[in-house]
Amino acid sequence: MQEASRHANALKPFDGTGFAGKTLRERGGTVFSYSDKRVAITRDGVRREAVMQWLFGAGHFARTPVFKQDGKWVEHRISQYPGAGRLSLTPGHVAQPSPSFDVAFGIVQSEANAERCFGCHSTNVSEPGVHCQRCHGEGQDHPAQATIRRTKDIALCAECHRSPNREYASPEPEIEDPGSIRFAPVGLMASKCYTASKGALTCVTCHDPHTDAKVGPGYDKNCLICHSPGPKNGCGREPNCASCHMPKSGPIPLLTFTDHRIR
Ligand code: HEC
Ligand code: HEC
Ligand code: HEC
Ligand code: HEC
Ligand code: HEC
Ligand code: HEC
Repeated sequence: MQEASRHANALKPFDGTGFAGKTLRERGGTVFSYSDKRVAITRDGVRREAVMQWLFGAGHFARTPVFKQDGKWVEHRISQYPGAGRLSLTPGHVAQPSPSFDVAFGIVQSEANAERCFGCHSTNVSEPGVHCQRCHGEGQDHPAQATIRRTKDIALCAECHRSPNREYASPEPEIEDPGSIRFAPVGLMASKCYTASKGALTCVTCHDPHTDAKVGPGYDKNCLICHSPGPKNGCGREPNCASCHMPKSGPIPLLTFTDHRIR
């Protein structure tokens, strides 16, 4: 079950998934074409290639290639968006047509920054993807109860999903910075459900970390642990609580997130 999750597939060696055989032409005339191993970029009749090494993202939202070029890590300019079914700009890259090959290949990442990317998308140096041991500890393919109790802590999830810091300490983080809704712990920890229940609400109240997020029938039971339906909540009998109280939005082009500040 966990092996099929997006956690487990958050990082893989590049094998062309989503890219192979596709071509993208930018307004400025730069052309990107992909095989199952590499990208070829053509500008003004000149063609250059790079071997794509790693693919970040399980493919629910987006897949971004990362590779080494001239000894430096590069985050590729182009990502694949399975939802939209196309290739497009990686978030954070300049939208104007690439002025040079360097910009077309992507953004150079410092060694420290690249380490952080791999750190959040891997279990350890030799195991890409987020697997058992990343959450349960070394050698813990069969975790003991004590480890499991510690693992439930919101701080573990926030190691990668980000936690509120000075930048996001606002009581209305999604209004201050719409992009912050991508960081679930930031919104959740600003919710009354969280602050007024004194930390009783954690990520695993609603998510089984071994499977992907989904709102299915019966999801509302997570809300009804603390909120009883009845005349006091006029809406308490309306099904699908999250559709009204945790709306989705897409502040970053082609990506949609769920607002975790419940209100
Ligand atoms: C080692 C870093 C790391 C830790 C620790 C971590 N996550 Fe994640 N999580 C990720 C990454 C990376 C993704 C994105 C996977 C993708 O789509 O490529 C993700 C995706 C998710 C998703 C979305 C999956 C989907 O349906 O799209 C949920 C839900 C989630 N994590 C919940 C949790 C919870 C709950 C915890 C704590 C128990 C947790 N995560 C701990 C890195 C982490
Ligand atoms: C602090 C931990 C952290 C770091 C550092 C990090 N990621 Fe992620 N990444 C996540 C989490 C958590 C998710 C899932 C939730 C989300 O989308 O933010 C994710 C999602 C993604 C996705 C799926 C698409 C998406 O936006 O959901 C891609 C692609 C990705 N990351 C690439 C990268 C690359 C490339 C780097 C480095 C340049 C990087 N990440 C650095 C934690 C991290
Ligand atoms: C993203 C972090 C994360 C990963 C990866 C992860 N777990 Fe867990 N695991 C948890 C958390 C958190 C709990 C506590 C869940 C709860 O109580 O609702 C847990 C609970 C468990 C339990 C107790 C029974 C249960 O389901 O509540 C077992 C057994 C377990 N994990 C085994 C594994 C194995 C085996 C893997 C790898 C195949 C794995 N876990 C991967 C976070 C993780
Ligand atoms: C761990 C307990 C807990 C869970 C689970 C929980 N809540 Fe709450 N929630 C609270 C508490 C406590 C308050 C504050 C009540 C008060 O101030 O009277 C609250 C407040 C709220 C409010 C009012 C917020 C505001 O800013 O005034 C809404 C709406 C709400 N919850 C909806 C939900 C929904 C929908 C879910 C499920 C997605 C949910 N809650 C899950 C404990 C919880
Ligand atoms: C009160 C219930 C609730 C809690 C608590 C909760 N989530 Fe979610 N989460 C949801 C719902 C609902 C969705 C939307 C799922 C869907 O549409 O399939 C979601 C979706 C996600 C996603 C997928 C991307 C997105 O934004 O849609 C990630 C990642 C995620 N949650 C991480 C977390 C983390 C990390 C925590 C703890 C800080 C957490 N969630 C706590 C209800 C919750
Ligand atoms: C169709 C949209 C919708 C759905 C579905 C919905 N709500 Fe609400 N809810 C609202 C609105 C609007 C308000 C604020 C107005 C009000 O007080 O009635 C509200 C208010 C609340 C409050 C705060 C009440 C207070 O005293 O301040 C809670 C708690 C709450 N809802 C919980 C839930 C739970 C639990 C569910 C699912 C069983 C749910 N809601 C389903 C729209 C909805």
